[in-house]
Amino acid sequence: MTGELSPIDKAKFVAAKRAAEFVEDGMRVGLGTGSTAAWLVRCLGDMVEKDGLKIKGVPTSSRTAELAHDVGIDVISLDEAKWLDMTIDGADEFDGELNLIKGGGGALLQEKIVATASDQMIVIADVGKEVERLGSFPLPVEIIPFGWQTTKALLEETLVSMDVLGRDTTLRMNGSVPYITDEGNHILDLHLGRIGNARQMSLVLNQIPGVVENGLFIDICDKVVVGYGDGKVEIRDINAGTVEIDRLDFVDDDNLFTDLMD
Ligand code: 5RP
Repeated sequence: MTGELSPIDKAKFVAAKRAAEFVEDGMRVGLGTGSTAAWLVRCLGDMVEKDGLKIKGVPTSSRTAELAHDVGIDVISLDEAKWLDMTIDGADEFDGELNLIKGGGGALLQEKIVATASDQMIVIADVGKEVERLGSFPLPVEIIPFGWQTTKALLEETLVSMDVLGRDTTLRMNGSVPYITDEGNHILDLHLGRIGNARQMSLVLNQIPGVVENGLFIDICDKVVVGYGDGKVEIRDINAGTVEIDRLDFVDDDNLFTDLMD
């Protein structure tokens, strides 16, 4: 079965599997959203089933909550957990300082709240997500539906004075209707090309009325587990300033690979 995975999926899988090793009995763990995070949830479910791992999981989206339930993880809300030992989540881009763009899967708001409420955030990503400077991936911004066109116009006006390469903004769609997040909001994708000052951009965007949150995660991520298609993983720790290299074998496992190819 693993032989059928693309190199990118293998890279996502090994990153997730290696990151799952950081999870210990009794931990409260934030569970990210997206295809890489789905591998993580499967790996943790497998550890719960086979090794008797005892954890409480706080999902960052309804999709992740459903998957976590399905694989046997004890799911609780953030209000029940209050604070988490760690959050493990994917990313759309990460840079050398482990700042991120997230929200490609539309879950940035819950993801940022959950990651910020954690002792540490570990990002799992295939090596293709690494960038020198953030911004090639369109930056998602969650906005409330009320007056969204005015919010879009204000945001575009704000971008004029910012150090970016492009300034197109698009309302994310779900077929012919606007995409709706788990919190009932819309998402504007900002096609910036390159963000000169991501820290400033994040602060400025959140000042605009109608903006709920943006997909820049600045100084939130502690470690990135980078996966490669050949099973290599690199664990970059921004606080310790270390890079650890590891290698994982692909072992076919019915529990992990059944029905996963979504
Ligand atoms: C969802 C996210 C995801 O973590 C991000 O889009 C990466 O997704 P994938 O692991 O599928 O590449 O931010 O809102």
